[in-house]
Amino acid sequence: MKLSKLFRWRKKQPAKTKTVPKPTPASSARKTASTKPASAQQSLQIIKPINVKLNIGHYRLEPFTEGGVCVVMKGIPKEPGKPKLAVKLVREQWLNHAAVRRQFSNESQIVKELHHPYLPKYLSRGLIDGKAYYAYEFIEGVPLINLSQEKDRFPPELIKDIATNIVTQLLEQLVHVQERLKPVAHGDISSENILIDSKQRIYLVDFGCSHFVKQAHKDSYQWLAKPSFISPEQAKGEIWDHRSDLYQAGILFYELVKNRRWNEGKSKREKVLFAASKERPHEDFLSDIVGRDISSIIAKLLDPNPATRHQNAKEALMDLNAIG
Ligand SMILES: Nc1ncnc2c1ncn2[C@@H]1O[C@H](COP(=O)(O)OP(=O)(O)O)[C@@H](O)[C@H]1O
Ligand SMILES: [Mg+2]
Repeated sequence: MKLSKLFRWRKKQPAKTKTVPKPTPASSARKTASTKPASAQQSLQIIKPINVKLNIGHYRLEPFTEGGVCVVMKGIPKEPGKPKLAVKLVREQWLNHAAVRRQFSNESQIVKELHHPYLPKYLSRGLIDGKAYYAYEFIEGVPLINLSQEKDRFPPELIKDIATNIVTQLLEQLVHVQERLKPVAHGDISSENILIDSKQRIYLVDFGCSHFVKQAHKDSYQWLAKPSFISPEQAKGEIWDHRSDLYQAGILFYELVKNRRWNEGKSKREKVLFAASKERPHEDFLSDIVGRDISSIIAKLLDPNPATRHQNAKEALMDLNAIG
């Protein structure tokens, strides 16, 4: 169904962009805020807009949002007819970390290679003032989490269709990501990393934890999802692959349907323990809201054992489409 009704509930005030620290390498993730370099506490406000000449034209870069590791700037073109950009750069204090630099280069290569109408289009990469950046299409949308946090955003009588539509779109994007010659595991799917536009199209962003599945090595697995969306295999420090993305799609589905968090942990540690110990939900666990068929699909996505979960996005999509 069309989600045209979705935006009728939109409040006039623009939703606040919530910035959450980026997942960090497992080794540094254990550090507390106070052990971070003082510069890591630097806030977006002190990042000044700058004018830059990129190989795709002249742009004014304005600070847009920041995570623990990266800053995203909005690139306003100086010449007519050029697209707006999202420009992602590693924050100053992480530039000396070889693993962060390697992963950022990997991220930009993944974004460069993906071509799907609803994955942001790669445009350029290089150095700005000696700092690595990559630029891709700016999406005029809001993070899904901003919508779901608004009270009464999703009216109960529509939630089944809204949630199914959003998860179907996500799975279609994951089919593309998983079925290419060089399949990619995203690793950090969450309602913060999905943007939704005014036509109710969703866009998966943030390949900061991703890896090419066939090139994965031990370092690839140190990049983990946000604690609320961490998969059991990530939480246990095991090797994870594209099926971790399906678990995260299951969390998203659950959270949209129930309008509450899946992971009940309060602290980061509790969230990791929750993810590592949660059992597969009963197939009827959401039947009262979405019916038995969809409930059992969500339960299968949320199977802690990757071997008995859906094996790929296509399989989950086929199950969902079979319901009609
Ligand atoms: N192409 C884009 N267009 C518009 N906003 C974007 C785009 N890419 C990212 N963002 C916004 O910036 C936020 C941070 O980007 P992200 O890639 O998730 O960085 P981080 O690795 O710091 O989490 C996203 O949650 C989203 O709100
Ligand atoms: Mg992010």
